Amino acid sequence: MARVTFYSGEAVPLEMHKVRIVQKLALVPIERRLAAISEAGNNTFLLKNRDIFLDMLTDSGVNAMSDKQLAAMMESDDSYAGSATFTKLENKIKELFNKDYFLPVHQGRAAENIIARVFVTPGSVVPMNYHFTTTKAHIMLNGGVIEELIVDEGLQVNSTHPFKGDLNITKLRALIAQRGAGNIAFVRIETGTNLIGGQPHSLENIRQVRAVCDEFGLLLVLDASLLADNLYFIKTREAGCKDMSIRAITRELSDLSDIIYFSARKLGCARGGGICTSSKDAFMKMRELVTLYEGFLTYGGMSVREIEAITVGLDETMDEDMISQGPIFIEYMVNELARQGVPVVTPAGGLGCHLNALQFLPHVPQTQYPAGALASALYLAGSVRGMERGTISEQRDENGKETLANMELLRLALPRRVFTLSQLKYAIDRIVWLYKNRDLVGGLVFVEEPKLLRFFFGKLKTTSDWHSKLVAKFRADLGDSL
Ligand code: F0G
Repeated sequence: MARVTFYSGEAVPLEMHKVRIVQKLALVPIERRLAAISEAGNNTFLLKNRDIFLDMLTDSGVNAMSDKQLAAMMESDDSYAGSATFTKLENKIKELFNKDYFLPVHQGRAAENIIARVFVTPGSVVPMNYHFTTTKAHIMLNGGVIEELIVDEGLQVNSTHPFKGDLNITKLRALIAQRGAGNIAFVRIETGTNLIGGQPHSLENIRQVRAVCDEFGLLLVLDASLLADNLYFIKTREAGCKDMSIRAITRELSDLSDIIYFSARKLGCARGGGICTSSKDAFMKMRELVTLYEGFLTYGGMSVREIEAITVGLDETMDEDMISQGPIFIEYMVNELARQGVPVVTPAGGLGCHLNALQFLPHVPQTQYPAGALASALYLAGSVRGMERGTISEQRDENGKETLANMELLRLALPRRVFTLSQLKYAIDRIVWLYKNRDLVGGLVFVEEPKLLRFFFGKLKTTSDWHSKLVAKFRADLGDSL
């Protein structure tokens, strides 16, 4: 891949696009931020956009769109059935993934609902590299269980393994021997494993998973929501793939999978989703559920404008310049923070930069939610909104005991092509300031705790008056700066 090298030797992630539509941002003073995060119960999901400067909550549905995507949206063919716009997307899926059948859905979790309803039966098992929250919920809702078979390095916050998202083949064979192939609903691979730092899998690993699936007659389902980043990592980190085109890598990944589904809020930089397969049998089983839950087969709950944008967005995903933009900005942020001693997940992955809250706030016990406390503190320090990916994102067990998360991460997502380098430098500056003042940060305790998906709506309070101490230190160090 051609990368621009700076004469100065500095590693600068260079934008291979120019910005032609902008949105004005507000940066409110820290005193307002204190009020806002208190009103939000220290839950960044409950903050209002007007109080946020850099929104790093997610990359979902908020990636920058291209001029060509916007242009395509103007000429969409709106009809309930038989829309020409839908045919364009179907053809693009066939071109890129070589799958005969395509089912549209309104977003990724809708695909998960349909796949789980068709293939998961009570007592069945779904082995996977790692779960995503909504995936696991749909599998469990249908009476199944998940088994995470990630390579050991996947759960090590710091490692040099280039593919921490790989599935451990020995563990897969052991699981099949233990549970029996007949009890396995399907094997699921998540590209760019979301919850463990956006870490990729290799193409070679999927070849090996396929061989095991063939041996035991198992279906292989690929969650391709984070495919764009993963393609970039296969191309740049996997020696055997460096001479392959992005299209060829995509095609081989697809040929190795029986069913592919994706959230087009991530893949394709629009809003929607889809499922594709070459199995007529699987298609026929899923088809009726699409009409039941999503809409007719030529829109599946999506607006035609979004369908046009997805078609162009998927095509643009085959462009190395385009897919490099997320990962090289993330790499810059991760490396810069690591250089300044801030604990982050390494190596840099896709999706975003992940702060390791257990090491950032070692004095905050896991039962006082270090990743949640860090999310609250960073909003206060810089009006940067991240997402807690730790114990708050878990659920209590049936006895009400906390399920402590494997990792306590604060995810700072970088929606693709949205932030500039100076904005990243600002975020890094505030994170470093916070790290230097980490002793001031305390824990959180729930005041309102919903039973289901508590991380979305739950409200928490600080265990002491650490918020006001942090505000006072900010003023002492940074004067009247916003
Ligand atoms: N699979 C993966 C790997 C995802 O990251 C997501 C969404 C989904 C499925 C569900 O897709 O949101 O369109 O229904 N991840 C978002 C995030 C929500 O913020 O990481 P969806």
